[in-house]
Amino acid sequence: MLMHQPQTASLLTRFRAVRSATMHFIAPLSPEDLMVQSCPEASPVKWHLAHTSWFFETFVLSEFIAAYKPFNPDFRWLFNSYYKALGEMPEKKLRASFSRPSLDQILAYREYVDQGIARLLDQTPEDEALRRIVLGIQHEQQHLELAATDIKHAFFTNPLQPAYTGTPEAHGRTVIAPPMSWLSYAPGFPGRPGVVDVGVTPDPAAIESFAFDNETPRHPVYLSPFRLASRLTTCAEFLAFMDEDGYNRPELWLSEGWDTAQREGWQAPLYWRRDSTARAGWRVFTLHGWQALEDLSESPVCHLSFFEADAFARWNGNRLPTEFEWEFVAAQVPAHGNLLESATLHPQAATSIPTDAAQPQQIFGDVWEWTSSPYTGYPGYKALPGALGEYNGKFMSSQMILRGGSCVTPESHIRATYRNFFHPATRWQFSGLRLARDGA
Ligand SMILES: [Fe+2]
Repeated sequence: MLMHQPQTASLLTRFRAVRSATMHFIAPLSPEDLMVQSCPEASPVKWHLAHTSWFFETFVLSEFIAAYKPFNPDFRWLFNSYYKALGEMPEKKLRASFSRPSLDQILAYREYVDQGIARLLDQTPEDEALRRIVLGIQHEQQHLELAATDIKHAFFTNPLQPAYTGTPEAHGRTVIAPPMSWLSYAPGFPGRPGVVDVGVTPDPAAIESFAFDNETPRHPVYLSPFRLASRLTTCAEFLAFMDEDGYNRPELWLSEGWDTAQREGWQAPLYWRRDSTARAGWRVFTLHGWQALEDLSESPVCHLSFFEADAFARWNGNRLPTEFEWEFVAAQVPAHGNLLESATLHPQAATSIPTDAAQPQQIFGDVWEWTSSPYTGYPGYKALPGALGEYNGKFMSSQMILRGGSCVTPESHIRATYRNFFHPATRWQFSGLRLARDGA
């Protein structure tokens, strides 16, 4: 079924909005800032600018515009991230050495690709081209979030430890998060207790309604009655775990987590530093620069690995939710929250007056919530055909699922079925936790 003209026009509007959001985000950054790659997981922001354009050029323009002339043939291998079916690519750690091509050339590349997409959409392309553009939009949003977390790490690593932007508003300061309460769930229907459907079966005709292949297909799962915390775990609550020597008690930790924490010398979340002048004894680096922990104590704790989130839950006498418990609850909650568009750039304290006491707070936005679920394919999962099959499927080992988006996730990118995944030792994303327990 071909898309009609108004739909291609609205797709072009969405494409342009997402491309502009990236450029808006980099506005406070200097060309030198854009070059920094401060940890193995991160990439220079300049590379993100090029790679997202590469994605559109490789998977859309080169395939759907007859006799397409690439901006620069070398860019096809230079800005490939991990798609081995397309050939060789530079080692990831070399991305910081890309002083050439210049930033001006990268910006011209973006412009060239933008014009190509506009031209293609003007020609009423086939449905598959439109699906690829939608995928490219989602891909660009993922890289915008990565640019935010990568520049945060870059600035933290810089001896001057500059702020990305302005001074923080006193969000955490005057707000006291409400006490955490338990919300009870007994999933299922009469005749089918405990059985719920999760995931997505895409409608091939609804091109603009998007889900990644790893969210498919929709399928039943069994959930025992469970309880979920009404809000995220706060910095103050995590400090209590630290004060009870949580980082140094092996009985609280998974074996691999203990070994990692010992090897890395973890005694606090990433971006926390001891500070004897701060009342709470710590300060925290944010995209707004340093803040005293006491000003953030009611805000959700973030930059935790899965191992720290899991150890905290065990110390607390509870556990992390499974990804399907989380999804079952999130499917009943509107997908709004403290996301990128709110421009806070940091998780915010839960409000003391919930709009609906029966619904959990902070489900979407603030921090990605570690779950106890490993990242695997759903029953009947099929990766996309061709090189795009490498997008998600090949990472289905040794990674854990996170749900819900963060304060730097674009709002139009997140949904209840969305599955983020990282290695359990990962800390540089805005990752935190929400507690769960057995029994309604
Ligand atoms: Fe990518």
